[in-house]
Amino acid sequence: MTALPMQSIKGLIDKVDFAGKSFISINDMSNDQLLNMFELARNLELFNRDKIDLFPGAQAALLFFQPSTRTRMSFQTAMTRLGGAVISEANPQVTSSAAKEESLNDMIRCVAQYCNVLVLRHYDDVEAREAAKYSSTPVINGGWGHWEHPTQALLDLYTLWRKFGTIEGKKVVIAAADLIEARTGHSMAYGLARLGADVTLASPKASKVPEEVTKRIREELKIDIKEEFDFNKQTFNELISDQDLVYLPGCSAPAGATAEAFKKIMDDYFVQHETLDAAREKGHMIYVTHTLPRRAGEMDLAIDDTPNQLAFEAILHSVSIRMALLASILGN
Ligand code: CP
Repeated sequence: MTALPMQSIKGLIDKVDFAGKSFISINDMSNDQLLNMFELARNLELFNRDKIDLFPGAQAALLFFQPSTRTRMSFQTAMTRLGGAVISEANPQVTSSAAKEESLNDMIRCVAQYCNVLVLRHYDDVEAREAAKYSSTPVINGGWGHWEHPTQALLDLYTLWRKFGTIEGKKVVIAAADLIEARTGHSMAYGLARLGADVTLASPKASKVPEEVTKRIREELKIDIKEEFDFNKQTFNELISDQDLVYLPGCSAPAGATAEAFKKIMDDYFVQHETLDAAREKGHMIYVTHTLPRRAGEMDLAIDDTPNQLAFEAILHSVSIRMALLASILGN
């Protein structure tokens, strides 16, 4: 691919038509906006290990109230690659005035004055959604409570789109020991369903995707989405044998009892590399991705060295798509 002239990149930014907007849910963008942003990201891939001075003088503020490696660092990378600057609070409960009981509303109201775009990760989605109303600058959801993590879904949708050239008609299973708390799974279910994928949600029945999500997809968006429950290792591997993508949203709980319980149930949703090998030998590729971080025993690491693995390719794409998102919000 050769680099487009700056004017053409600016044309692609205009086409997304999202300048000045907040990105709080994956549903804040129309299908056309998502697809136009994928096209913009594809043209920005040339700069994800380089720099394009589209926004000198622009500043992003990153406020992360939960631990993060990928979301925080890839936003930081993306903003820097676009020629902008970043200010960051990686542990605000300790190092910011949140430690002095400052409300999130006040904090957002103040930090918004320092930046052109604000990325927030927070453990409480209700508090985060309320606080976003106090921002005078666009807000990006970097993972809120158990509700949504729309930029993770963006990068996974983009990776799938890059792999196949389309998302329409692709068979995808979203599987986890707990889909109630899988904020990435919720955003991804919306995005996949809206872009025409054939989606199956697989989990224990007791921890299925909240009805708020499935009802919205079925009743408001009028899109069919399947739910299947209570697998064991064998039945799960039978389910995935004709899929195009197995999507593992993982568990965002810190180390401890919740994470241990999650890992135990994941034995029943364990993708065996033999299933992928057998399909590949018959000419069918089942891609597997995990949103990361993953825990020991949650995934067959033998998959990492096969062409089926997409998780690390997605990491590279995460920079381009976050560049595209920031550029779309910052506008021309
Ligand atoms: N996938 C994801 O959100 O990773 P981090 O928690 O490391 O940001």
